[in-house]
Amino acid sequence: MAKTFKYVILGGGVSAGYAAREFAKQGVKPGELALISKEAVAPYERPALSKGYLFPESPARLPGFHVTVGSGGERLLPEWYTEKGIELILNTEIVKADLAAKSLTSAGGEIFNYQNLVIATGSTVIRLTDFGVQGADAKNIFYLRDIDDADKLYEAIKGKKNGKAVVVGGGYIGLEISAVLKLNNLDVTMVYPEPWCMPRLFTSDIAAFYEGYYANKGVNIIKGTVAVGFNANSDGEVKEVKLKDGRVLEADIVVVGVGGRPLVSLFKGQVEEEKGGIKTDSSFKTNVSGVYAVGDVATFPLKLYGELRRVEHVDHARKSAEQAVKAIKAAEDGKTVEEYDYLPYFYSRSFDLSWQFYGDNVGDSVLFGDNKPESPKPKFGTYWIKEGKVVGAFLEGGSPEENNAIAKVARIQPPVESVDQLAKEGLSFASKI
Ligand code: FDA
Ligand code: NAD
Repeated sequence: MAKTFKYVILGGGVSAGYAAREFAKQGVKPGELALISKEAVAPYERPALSKGYLFPESPARLPGFHVTVGSGGERLLPEWYTEKGIELILNTEIVKADLAAKSLTSAGGEIFNYQNLVIATGSTVIRLTDFGVQGADAKNIFYLRDIDDADKLYEAIKGKKNGKAVVVGGGYIGLEISAVLKLNNLDVTMVYPEPWCMPRLFTSDIAAFYEGYYANKGVNIIKGTVAVGFNANSDGEVKEVKLKDGRVLEADIVVVGVGGRPLVSLFKGQVEEEKGGIKTDSSFKTNVSGVYAVGDVATFPLKLYGELRRVEHVDHARKSAEQAVKAIKAAEDGKTVEEYDYLPYFYSRSFDLSWQFYGDNVGDSVLFGDNKPESPKPKFGTYWIKEGKVVGAFLEGGSPEENNAIAKVARIQPPVESVDQLAKEGLSFASKI
């Protein structure tokens, strides 16, 4: 039997939750809106999974971090959807999308028809089995994307007290998970191919701080090599990680964070794509009438830099969802919304550290402040300068006011006369803007 809705949000993650809230704010009648998710729980703030969810003491648990608490909003509990007349359809994976017929089919054979579709399918993890790494399907090799993954990892951490953990990958997941495994008293080794961690964003100077800080916390770091195979015991549980440089590491738990991939395959050939994502305009509308794409899957016009980009971070997931819903509702009244003018914002937290980044990490970079890993209260940052203007700013250990100041710099892009002067002024350059 087919069900028909005026609006369907496909996905149950960050964008989906914020889109639902925006629909409720703008006004939807009972039965008009459905949210379809393959997860078993209502949308939650995904960043908690690699942080508080795995803490050894008082870990974060649902319903504590349902959206929209991550941005200071109300917790949208399952009851909230019922009260608003929004159909929350969980444990339901969509396996077929027919954008021309405006219909979705679930793994269980249910059919959902819609007038407007918001694609919010997010990303999936890249697996070592995707590259045929030998033994990569052994037990106790974990990935982290959703709450089921986090539950399995949590159980393994509890079951392998004082054991050895190897973390494959030196990006966001690698850095956040290594820290939380260490807090759980595991013996942690990180392995990544690049000369320094998080090269997507960090300069070598920024990375040197985090590598030093992690080393002081007892995390072992092996750079410039990759995992090429795994040995398991007779129960199929991972026991060793073989590295390309010939070293072999003991392991009771392996966590892999080697990147994500946007989940767009359902729509292949039916919608225009760009840079690995679904191409949208500044209202997150695709080239197919009535179909919008938000969050990790959207490749949208980043007005500030005059180019199309995809962003895999939570702030954009929230804001793009709100923009799309406002645009859908405005279009019904024959109106348009203001152009999306996004300032990229990424952040991370681990151990006692917390950094924020705004803007673009292109051009020359200049480091300022105290980036000694052994400092009792490290506070340092970096500006990126392109064509004589500051275009990006990073700050570790900033106060809310200081973080606001670097955000303003990245937005305003003030000119700089001398890089030396900028290095000397450091944070005061941002504070006086
Ligand atoms: P998201 O992945 O949140 O949601 C997609 C949803 O669609 C999921 O519920 C999925 O199950 C569902 N789905 C997919 N295909 C489906 C199908 N065919 N049928 C039904 N449902 C389907 N960012 C940041 O800025 N700071 C941070 O600290 C962190 N921390 C962090 C930790 C971890 C562990 C991860 C994995 C990610 C982060 N991120 C982050 C990134 C951030 O969480 C991410 O960019 C957003 O969650 C993206 O939101 P989306 O809604 O696009 O996808
Ligand atoms: P990532 O792209 O941040 O890092 C991938 C890392 O994998 C690379 O830096 C590299 O070190 C490593 N790598 C690549 N191939 C490898 C190989 N064969 N062997 C060993 N290492 C290899 O991706 P991620 O850390 O997996 O994160 C996945 C997604 O989750 C991303 O979208 C990310 O933005 C998101 N996320 C964001 C945050 C945050 O914003 N704080 C936190 C967690 C996750």
